[in-house]
Amino acid sequence: MKLTTKNRFNLAASLIAPVALLGLLVSNPAAARGSFTAAELADQEKALLALVDRGRDLWHGSSPTMSTNGLACGNCHPDAAASNPQTFPKFQANLGKVIPLRDMINWCIMVPQVGTALDVNSADMVAMEAYAMYMYRGIKIEPGLASVQTPPVVVKSGPGFPKKGSGVGFDK
Ligand code: HEC
Repeated sequence: MKLTTKNRFNLAASLIAPVALLGLLVSNPAAARGSFTAAELADQEKALLALVDRGRDLWHGSSPTMSTNGLACGNCHPDAAASNPQTFPKFQANLGKVIPLRDMINWCIMVPQVGTALDVNSADMVAMEAYAMYMYRGIKIEPGLASVQTPPVVVKSGPGFPKKGSGVGFDK
């Protein structure tokens, strides 16, 4: 057979295709891996729950940088109450834009707690989110909606929520 440009291409393609397919199978873990074993799933759950635990501790006052006025998230949102993580991203009237949960967490760190915002990529932020989401597991996800209209939080101890224009947090 005389090798024209066309059948030269066909020959090359028929040699390359199986090699490419093999490469895809080997490099694609989803194709190569079976279901997770019970032991693997137990490890994954352990890792998640460790982060949820860390989030619960941070939420209830274990961080010296997240608050400078003695307030912790737990004072106003005990057990993550009224934090409604399932409604994010949503429009936040105070900021005038749609924000993700992590920005709301940082807002509450900076404003009611007059603390230093967390790095949004930090393990502590993931822990804060993991804790909130874990407490709300099973609740319908409704981004953009304040599905649960929660009344203003009454603070029985500590200085309470700073007034608008008081010069703290995003309001500086
Ligand atoms: C002094 C009370 C107070 C403290 C302490 C506080 N918050 Fe809040 N939090 C509020 C108030 C008030 C709002 C409602 C703000 C708004 O909608 O403009 C709110 C809203 C939220 C929301 C959004 C709830 C929703 O339905 O949209 C989240 C999430 C949240 N806080 C998380 C936290 C976290 C995390 C901490 C700790 C880092 C914290 N808050 C500490 C008073 C507090």
